[in-house]
Amino acid sequence: MMNSDRSLLLLLPLLLSSAVSGLGSVVQRYYFYVQSHVPWEQTQSYCRSSSTIYHTDLATIYKQSDENLMYMNYYHAWIGLYKNTSDYWAWSNEENTYFDLPWARYEPDNGARCETWRWSTGLSDYRNWALNETGNDSDCVSISSLGKKMATQNCSDRFPFLCIRDNLVLVKENKTWREALDHCRALNSPYISSIRFELVSVQPEDHDNVMNKVKEGDTEEVWAGLRFLAGHWVWVNGANMVYSHLPPCPPVEQGCGVLSKNGTGRVEITDCTEKRNFLCYSSH
Ligand SMILES: *[C@@H]1O[C@H](CO)[C@@H](O)[C@H](O)[C@H]1NC(C)=O
Ligand SMILES: *[C@@H]1O[C@H](CO)[C@@H](O)[C@H](O)[C@H]1NC(C)=O
Ligand SMILES: *[C@@H]1O[C@H](CO)[C@@H](O)[C@H](O)[C@H]1NC(C)=O
Ligand SMILES: *[C@@H]1O[C@H](CO)[C@@H](O)[C@H](O)[C@H]1NC(C)=O
Ligand SMILES: *[C@@H]1O[C@H](CO)[C@@H](O)[C@H](O)[C@H]1NC(C)=O
Ligand SMILES: *[C@@H]1O[C@H](CO)[C@@H](O)[C@H](O)[C@H]1NC(C)=O
Repeated sequence: MMNSDRSLLLLLPLLLSSAVSGLGSVVQRYYFYVQSHVPWEQTQSYCRSSSTIYHTDLATIYKQSDENLMYMNYYHAWIGLYKNTSDYWAWSNEENTYFDLPWARYEPDNGARCETWRWSTGLSDYRNWALNETGNDSDCVSISSLGKKMATQNCSDRFPFLCIRDNLVLVKENKTWREALDHCRALNSPYISSIRFELVSVQPEDHDNVMNKVKEGDTEEVWAGLRFLAGHWVWVNGANMVYSHLPPCPPVEQGCGVLSKNGTGRVEITDCTEKRNFLCYSSH
């Protein structure tokens, strides 16, 4: 008891060193439009190279309201949805049919049984196909400025494109809560001292964006920056504690917060010494 009290006292100022009281939403996510007309293959590397600090890639659309966040000129623009040829092969092998026929995707019942679309980054089931779009003719997808409808295009055609950027970093390494905290903080850049990385906190307005990342994890749950310290649940970045479902006196071994893939985005509590993926965010 003595020991654990002492270690808590030592831990407290250290954990809260970057605390800002009253912090709310911490997630930033936005789309930007690039006017150059290029083939789809060139868009990914362009988006990715546009920032070394933020996670940036060709645009993923997670839900209908994301379309309102996309500014684009009157035309079509590439997004991150595409068919990856290696997926046809993987699927063909699995089914043990057509295993040497990459064009088997044109077989009538093939498309119906296997959706090979994937995003350049992230996981999303969101689709908003244009009327009469069969999705079977070409391998890359654009959206139209009017209605943001999806259409397949020949990947070598040239269109402007949309990138997505956010400040979340999912670390796919398995660490204890404390190791995860240290890992996030070590991401702080010595060159850009105004950027700070921290284990993520979750406010209701950030749930959707955070859960989109949690679903990409290798582990069923990922660490968030929630800790039971000196009798209170705290976010280590000092964010507002808006959860009322957390037990006021958790068992000693249940002192750290996780977000679960199949959860609703509400933080759950578990053993701090378990090892799992974790979610950092950057701020400045
Ligand atoms: C297609 O999938 C393979 C294997 O997962 C990956 O290495 C490759 O980068 C993907 N292609 C594109 C254009 O992202
Ligand atoms: C959709 O397909 C139907 C049947 O082929 C055709 O009559 C109709 O004009 C098409 N609509 C558009 C918007 O292309
Ligand atoms: C592709 O074709 C199959 C079979 O004709 C059809 O079931 C499927 O819905 C099509 N894909 C899309 C995205 O419309
Ligand atoms: C895409 O366009 C290129 C160049 O115009 C053409 O050579 C190729 O056959 C087209 N691919 C498909 C699948 O239509
Ligand atoms: C982390 O743990 C998960 C689940 O046990 C495992 O699938 C994954 O490969 C592990 N990742 C690393 C980097 O060891
Ligand atoms: C998903 O959540 C339920 C409880 O809501 C739990 O019983 C189940 O084990 C979870 N699934 C996995 C794969 O962990």
